[in-house]
Amino acid sequence: MNENNSYNLISKIIHWVSALLILGLIFIGFYMDDLEGAQKYKMYDIHKSFGVLLLGLVCVRILWNAIKGKPKTLISYKKWEKILSHISHMFMYLAMIALPLSGWAISSTGGHAVKFFGIKLPALLEKNKELHEIFEELHEFLAIALLFVVGLHILGAFKHHFIDKDITLKRMTAKSLGLVGGIIVLLLAIVAYVPAGGYVAKEVVFDDLYDDDDHKDEHNENKHEDDDH
Ligand code: HEM
Ligand code: HEM
Repeated sequence: MNENNSYNLISKIIHWVSALLILGLIFIGFYMDDLEGAQKYKMYDIHKSFGVLLLGLVCVRILWNAIKGKPKTLISYKKWEKILSHISHMFMYLAMIALPLSGWAISSTGGHAVKFFGIKLPALLEKNKELHEIFEELHEFLAIALLFVVGLHILGAFKHHFIDKDITLKRMTAKSLGLVGGIIVLLLAIVAYVPAGGYVAKEVVFDDLYDDDDHKDEHNENKHEDDDH
């Protein structure tokens, strides 16, 4: 077990690198859909490579947790805070595994290769149009759900730092993190979250508001013609 009630350096590094990767991948995932031609395919390759990298990183993280243990939930947490933090952490781990696997499955069932920074990886499944569409829906749903949960997670972290004034944020950053440090981390979190959050709001909320059924059909047809990666 982890006796010290703080995350160790490796856990902290993996947490912050994964956080940036996830938010970047959600942004690129939606952004690449709006690109054309060679630029679009290049962005798909970048998305897939970093997505596979995240899958590797989450495997290392789970192994590392199993070997080194994790700090216990703070005893000062109320019952609902304990439950909410456990559920959200579990969901985030699940999504960090299911998102890359469903993405990989989109490519395989669409008959497209997945390369990890140029190295061709084996297909997960056979080409299959029905499954391809199911995995596309699943991938998009998981990304939006994860973004929502991460939003709550970030709000929770800053509530604990600025309102409850406990060590939640300190143990994932530095013991000496005070008010100014907290504000800097808050600004960095906003800068990292806004591109992905803004894109999802634009795509999901605003585009759906004015898209009538005809537009949707047109969009889906185009999607299948050029995006089957
Ligand atoms: C960018 C702003 C973020 C902030 C400020 C933040 C903050 C924190 C803090 C303070 C903890 C420690 C909680 C505790 O003591 O129990 C934590 C844990 C965790 N965070 Fe984040 N986080 C951020 C982004 C993310 C993202 C994008 C993910 C990815 C899905 C994520 C996944 C997790 C997970 C899974 C844990 C639990 C760690 C474990 O027990 O293994 N976080 N985060
Ligand atoms: C945690 C990792 C990942 C995240 C957060 C993520 C996120 C996203 C998002 C938000 C989209 C846009 C969804 C839409 O427009 O409907 C997307 C699309 C896509 N992703 Fe990922 N992705 C991840 C990993 C992967 C991996 C590892 C692969 C492949 C190896 C992949 C392949 C794809 C493909 C092919 C699309 C386009 C789907 C379509 O045209 O509808 N993704 N991803």
